[in-house]
Amino acid sequence: MGIIILGIETSCDETSAAVLEDGVTLRSNIIASQVAIHQKFGGVVPEVASRKHLENVHPVLMEALDQAGVTLQDIDGIAVTYGPGLVGALLVGVAAAKAMAYALDIPLIGVNHLEGHIAANFLARPDLEFPLLCLVVSGGHSDLVYMPHRGTYQLLGRTRDDAAGEAFDKVARAMGLGYPGGPLIDRLAQSGNPQAVKLPRAFLEEGSLDFSFSGLKSAVLNYLNRAAMLKEEVNMADLAASFQQATVEVLVEKTILAAGQTGVKTIMLAGGVAANGGLRHLLQTRAAEIGCQVVFPPLRLCTDNAAMIACAGYYKYLRGDFAPLTLNAVPALPL
Ligand code: KG4
Ligand code: ZN
Repeated sequence: MGIIILGIETSCDETSAAVLEDGVTLRSNIIASQVAIHQKFGGVVPEVASRKHLENVHPVLMEALDQAGVTLQDIDGIAVTYGPGLVGALLVGVAAAKAMAYALDIPLIGVNHLEGHIAANFLARPDLEFPLLCLVVSGGHSDLVYMPHRGTYQLLGRTRDDAAGEAFDKVARAMGLGYPGGPLIDRLAQSGNPQAVKLPRAFLEEGSLDFSFSGLKSAVLNYLNRAAMLKEEVNMADLAASFQQATVEVLVEKTILAAGQTGVKTIMLAGGVAANGGLRHLLQTRAAEIGCQVVFPPLRLCTDNAAMIACAGYYKYLRGDFAPLTLNAVPALPL
């Protein structure tokens, strides 16, 4: 058996545990989703999430070991998300990881959730050559990250208000589509006309790599309110396609600008919104024009999971970058 890392992820509403061998062989990746519970509230309720993690964490860990065919004694290190995220949710994973690392007397590895999202790309592509650029787009973040070497992260741009996934979720809610909104808008957009509704694109100052999505979100809400007032029927597929196109165009153009500035040859996508069909397609087209390749994780590894945490943890394990047993949850942990 190679180097076995157990990954644990509880930063938001998925309780997940994964067993990864040598950074590439995923022996198990168990994800207990709470989506059905939070759906009726239209978003994640932090207190409910913590309680569910507490119920799920033990069975999920046991299932991950069982499915991987490994025993506790086979584990070489335990990687856990310690931020950013919901503090009560993070604490469940961190406490479980610390208890196991202490009892087994093996290294504890603290992983930044965003570093995990980025590492989802290395599961299938451990060979990617640095420097790399990654667009991290999730429910909480829209970051452009430059990596000169493995383990070094430079934040080139970030959102000034809503994250991309947050905009998808809020717009979907206003359209009455449900939660989480990203996949629902993505699907609906496939049958709509992206030019049908005129919506703003916030490119901000010349050369800026920051994002802003609140203006676009408000424009969609105004469009819906106006239609309701005038009792006009809204073509939801057209609206979904137009909103998605406006979001994706800004994300892609800023990423292409950053690729030009840094001279990278490979652009990675990460985070839940990296699952978006429109984003993948446009980024690939534009990157090809400037001679860059685009890589992204398989769909199920884009949204929250412990496999990506185990993968980020594997490289930290190789570097001997371990956490003390006093590791705490850090809700606003920067990359
Ligand atoms: O990375 P993630 O699972 O959790 C966070 O760390 O936030 O991302 C969840 C976000 C949600 O906002 C969800 O609506 C969005 O990712 N998302 C998508 C798609 N699939 C998930 N957004 C657009 N298109 C999708 N296909
Ligand atoms: Zn995430």
